Amino acid sequence: MADISPAGAVAIARAAALLRAGRLVAFPTETVYGLGGDATNDHAVAAIFAAKARPRFNPLIVHVRDLAGAERLAVFNSPARRAAARFWPGPLTLVLPRQADGGLSLLASAGLDTVAIRVPDHPVAQALLREADRPIAAPSANRSGRVSPTQGAHVAEDLGDDVELILDDGPTPVGLESTVLDVSGEVPALLRPGPVTFEALTDLLGAIALPGSGLPRSPGMLPSHYAPRLPVRVAATEASPGEALLAFGPDAPSGFAEVLWLSRSGDLAEAAANLFAMLRRLDRPSFTGIAVMPIPEHSLGRAINDRLRRAAAPRGG
Ligand code: TXA
Ligand code: MG
Repeated sequence: MADISPAGAVAIARAAALLRAGRLVAFPTETVYGLGGDATNDHAVAAIFAAKARPRFNPLIVHVRDLAGAERLAVFNSPARRAAARFWPGPLTLVLPRQADGGLSLLASAGLDTVAIRVPDHPVAQALLREADRPIAAPSANRSGRVSPTQGAHVAEDLGDDVELILDDGPTPVGLESTVLDVSGEVPALLRPGPVTFEALTDLLGAIALPGSGLPRSPGMLPSHYAPRLPVRVAATEASPGEALLAFGPDAPSGFAEVLWLSRSGDLAEAAANLFAMLRRLDRPSFTGIAVMPIPEHSLGRAINDRLRRAAAPRGG
C-alpha cells in the first residue's frame, strides 16, 4: 500500500523531493486530493495518466503558487486577469492559451494549445508548491471514472501502490472539484460548474456560455464521469427496494435501506463537502442502488447536480 503521512513539514519536504525526482505524490487541496507530478517532466506526467488509467486525451490541471507563476505558463487577457484577481487562490481553474516557452510538458495539456491552471487555497498544497519550486500537474487522485477523493484514505483505496506518498490532512473543506472556466475564446465558457458559482462569475465578467451550449470543449465533460459502482438515481422522492438514500433537507422519504444526510439543514456547502465521501460509503453491494433527493439548481447546487447527473448517466466503457 501507499505510504500515508500526516502533512507536517518533514513529510512535505519529502514529497517535494519526490516530485523533483519525477515521482508521484498525492496531496490535499481545498477541493479534493490531487495526484501530483512535475508538470515540466513528460515522464512524471505520463506516470499520472498510467496511475489513473486515464484516457490520454483528457488534459490535466497545472497548479502554481500565484498569478506570477501562472503568467509564466499562460497568456492572460483582461477577463482572465479579473477572474484571477478575484478568485485566486481558490477553487477556480482557468483555461488559457499556453505560453510558447513556458517549459510545460506537452503531455500535461494532451497536445492542446491551451492549458488549465489554478492556484490552490490550501496550506499543504501551497507549502508543497513552494518547496518543489515547480508547477505541479494534478488531476483528482482517483482512478479515472471514479468519484474524486476527499480524504487521504480514499486515495489509498483507489491508487494503492501507484502513488509513492499520500500527504494526509483530513477531509478537504470544499469537497467538489474546482470550477473550470475557459477564457481563451471571445466569450468565457463554463466547462465544469464548481465552487466558484456561475452567478459569481457572471457578476464579475458578464455573459458566460454554459456547458452543453456548443461543442464539448472539455474532455472531462464526458456524460458518465463520476461514477460509483452502484446505479445512482437523482431527484428521488420515494424508495425502491433495497436502495440507500442521500438525503437533503430536514425530511427524508421513508423505506430506504440506509439514509445518510448530505445536509439536514439544506446547506449546499455542507452537502458539497459530504457528497463524494457519502457516495463512497453507500457504494456497497448490499444495496441495489443509491437514490439522491432533489438538490436545488442554484449556486453550489449546480455543481452538485452536475456531478450527480454524471454519476447517474448510462455507463459507457
Ligand atoms: O479541484 C480540482 O480541480 C482538482 C484538484 C486536484 O485541483 N483537480 C481536478 O483535475 O479535478 P481533473 O484532472 O480531475 O479535472 C480537470 C478538468 C477536466 O474536466 C479536464 O477536461 C479539464 O479540467 N481541462 C484540463 N485542461 C483543459 C484544457 N486545456 N481545455 C479544456 N479543459 C481542460
Ligand atoms: Mg477528476
